[in-house]
Amino acid sequence: MKKDSDSSKLHELYSSEEIKKRVQELSFAISNDYVNRELNIVGILKGAFIFLADLVRFLTIPCYIHFLRASSYGCQKITSGQVEIQHTLNLAGKHILLVEDIIDTGLTLNSVINELRIQHPASLKICSLLDKPAARKTSIKVDYTGFTISDKFVVGYGIDFSEHYRELPYIAELKN
Ligand code: IMP
Ligand code: MG
Repeated sequence: MKKDSDSSKLHELYSSEEIKKRVQELSFAISNDYVNRELNIVGILKGAFIFLADLVRFLTIPCYIHFLRASSYGCQKITSGQVEIQHTLNLAGKHILLVEDIIDTGLTLNSVINELRIQHPASLKICSLLDKPAARKTSIKVDYTGFTISDKFVVGYGIDFSEHYRELPYIAELKN
């Protein structure tokens, strides 16, 4: 299928250089905080795959990398509120850092956190590239945030609209 890449709909918010600089800062902060602990990074697929790949390459400490799949959006711009989680993780007693692309209502992350807490990890922290606090429906403490943005729909750098635009190296607002 041909990809919709109508660039007139895209308004760049963060260039790949700006993203790289911020991801490096986050990675150094994480390296510092986990210096004497075994770090287990859990990426939330699919949206976090590029962010996670860049983040781990700036770490100055070793880490384990895991993934789980969470989906709530389907093909809409508004969350369905129904979150489906798929994983085979066993992280009991481990230090978990959840890596997410973007937090909107918080419902996805809330479901993931509840699912992982059942396993009694030693600690559980959150790292999200983007945060849209205006849309929040549940309170979530985000430990590491790349950029805080207003309530707009964004794509690129792993983030999609109906599986389009993930490959863009920058982050853009998707206009109607
Ligand atoms: P939440 O459950 O409402 O917090 O939404 C979280 C998930 O919805 C993210 O992991 C994204 O996959 C998706 N999402 C939220 N906001 C956007 C957006 O602006 N663009 C694309 N996907 C988004
Ligand atoms: Mg998504």
